[in-house]
Amino acid sequence: MAALVLFSLVLLRLFAAVQAGAAQDDGASFTACLAAAGVRNVTTRGSPGYGAALRVPIMNLRFAGAGAPQPAAVVVPASLEELRAAVRCARAAALVVRLRSGGHSYEGLSYTTEDRSAFAVVDLAALDRVRVRVGGATAWVEAGATLGQVYHAVAAASPALAFSAGSCPTVGSGGHIAGGGFGLLSRRHGLAGDNVVDAVLVDAEGRVLDRSGMGEDVFWAIRGGGGGAWGAVYAWRVQLRPVPEHVTAFVVNRPGTAASVARLVSTWQHVAPWLPDEFYISAFVGAGLPESNGTGISVTFKGFYLGPADEALQILTARFPEIGLSDLNPREMSWIESVVFFSGLPEGSSVSDLTDRVLHKKNYFKAKSDYARRPMALDQLIRAVDLLSEQPRAYVILDPYGGAMDRIDPADLPFPHRKGNIHGIQYLIEWAADEDGHRDEFMDWLRRFYDFMGAYVAKNPRAAYINYMDLDLGTNNWSDDRQLDNKIPNPEVEAARAWGERYFLGNYDRLVRAKTTIDPDNVFRNAQSIPPLRVPGVTRSSPRGISPEVISNGSTYDS
Ligand SMILES: Cc1cc2nc3c(=O)[nH]c(=O)nc-3n(C[C@H](O)[C@H](O)[C@H](O)COP(=O)(O)OP(=O)(O)OC[C@H]3O[C@@H](n4cnc5c(N)ncnc54)[C@H](O)[C@@H]3O)c2cc1C
Ligand SMILES: *[C@@H]1O[C@H](CO)[C@@H](O)[C@H](O)[C@H]1NC(C)=O
Ligand SMILES: *[C@@H]1O[C@H](CO)[C@@H](O)[C@H](O)[C@H]1NC(C)=O
Ligand SMILES: *[C@@H]1O[C@H](CO)[C@@H](O)[C@H](O)[C@H]1NC(C)=O
Ligand SMILES: *[C@@H]1O[C@H](CO)[C@@H](O)[C@H](O)[C@H]1NC(C)=O
Repeated sequence: MAALVLFSLVLLRLFAAVQAGAAQDDGASFTACLAAAGVRNVTTRGSPGYGAALRVPIMNLRFAGAGAPQPAAVVVPASLEELRAAVRCARAAALVVRLRSGGHSYEGLSYTTEDRSAFAVVDLAALDRVRVRVGGATAWVEAGATLGQVYHAVAAASPALAFSAGSCPTVGSGGHIAGGGFGLLSRRHGLAGDNVVDAVLVDAEGRVLDRSGMGEDVFWAIRGGGGGAWGAVYAWRVQLRPVPEHVTAFVVNRPGTAASVARLVSTWQHVAPWLPDEFYISAFVGAGLPESNGTGISVTFKGFYLGPADEALQILTARFPEIGLSDLNPREMSWIESVVFFSGLPEGSSVSDLTDRVLHKKNYFKAKSDYARRPMALDQLIRAVDLLSEQPRAYVILDPYGGAMDRIDPADLPFPHRKGNIHGIQYLIEWAADEDGHRDEFMDWLRRFYDFMGAYVAKNPRAAYINYMDLDLGTNNWSDDRQLDNKIPNPEVEAARAWGERYFLGNYDRLVRAKTTIDPDNVFRNAQSIPPLRVPGVTRSSPRGISPEVISNGSTYDS
């Protein structure tokens, strides 16, 4: 009986926010609370500038339309103190918090809600300082800084240092590192998350926690367990890595028949994961690749080598001559120039353009992901490439693993796709505004292609990468009453296992324990966030807050 009462109390608490959300006003108490705390950059629904504040950072136009749920307000904190106030005020007003750093969430989770709960967007765009300490090869990065801003600041401080993270400069370090963060240096230096040595988190109580304050389980969880689930990351302290004065880069497009393209991809599958750690060659396959200029199905190889061009050519001559060496034109450049080269910025862009937060070429897209543990047989690949040739809006990106990715233990961070994975697979379909009437058709096409690929990829469970978020894998339903009558003690945790174990494999239960420690009331939640245990099976530790002065003023943050 006592247990039942306790159980019900926990339930009440878990769902209190959802209930209160339904009854809440349109944000008046929230804005009053913010005003009292001195937070000035607040735009409420209906006020001038609301549309721009909400939409400018939206990357996937699929979630920018009139039908998307809209926040009561968009708040842009100007300091750590204001970030704390935003979290505290939103909670007091029973508004769900949507943290946004770069706005690149594939499923729009930084500015929409899954269940039409009243919510507020807390946008970290103004928290974008990067402080590099060349001596220790570290940097403090405010979570609102984009990867382009980070790369720019690192290279400006020292051309001999780099940061290992993704290639798109407008991606935010807040969401990116929270999901792992794979890029051109990852075969040499691991994920962005592998290179985080400290962090500052604002938790659901508004406390400011550094690594020792939050404890090792939570520090583990925030480096790959997915954004928006643990608290607001205010800043990351990252380890920088040495790079040579010159690196080598090339992009080459190889059109052909489905069979000839498949043969090249097959060779790539047998070679790229085993190249030296300094080498990275990814493969893009599709019938509408920009480099192919309308010539039909093709593969584009993007190559990067931490060393001179003649060395890169020597390695390719021995290992991958099929790529075609005579017109490869590998170019030597500084690391930061290679970042611009692979950034997707328009031809002629310069290093300073990396600091532009706004992505100018946006579109509508849907993505899904997989991992490959062995190469496909050639006839299977031919069939896959043949299917791709039928839908020029779709393409596949193969990212080479191996190297350092193969040597890091799968339990080191929540991101588990390490040893034994030869490459990642990302399936994408993109369309423009005037084609949006065919949205369902495009998305269904991608799902059918994904079904076809199921036989050839990692299974049991079929794996996925949380930064390529895919709501097809399942979503939380915080207001599912049927779960309340259920005899299972933790129905949310069991439901979320369906996608949680695909993103995190054996790390899922440790993430649930970390969530229960840091956010037992589930204040930070979204469609695929890790749920807390209702009846904690672990002793809840009480994280120790540190005074914000130490961070903004002392040696910790102000290096
Ligand atoms: C064009 C493009 C290129 C990409 N390239 C790569 C790549 O090369 N490698 C790779 O690994 N991934 C890549 N991604 C995926 C990218 O890493 C994820 O979409 C990432 O989550 C985006 O982070 P963000 O801050 O820009 O997004 P947001 O939409 O702002 O946030 C994503 C999630 O994190 C949460 N979040 C945001 N800020 C914080 C914070 N400060 N504290 C806590 N939670 C927060 C949000 O609430 C949301 O749930 C790419 C995405 C796009 C659109
Ligand atoms: C609010 O923040 C946004 C994003 O940083 C900025 O563009 C805008 O100028 C700010 N508005 C005010 C009034 O400070
Ligand atoms: C692309 O194709 C068009 C004709 O279809 C041609 O005029 C143009 O020169 C091509 N561009 C490049 C870069 O090859
Ligand atoms: C969530 O659960 C409720 C109650 O069972 C149900 O009515 C609703 O349709 C569910 N929502 C979603 C998105 O599945
Ligand atoms: C913060 O800076 C002020 C002025 O520089 C100094 O007096 C104070 O001791 C510092 N506080 C901490 C915690 O370092």
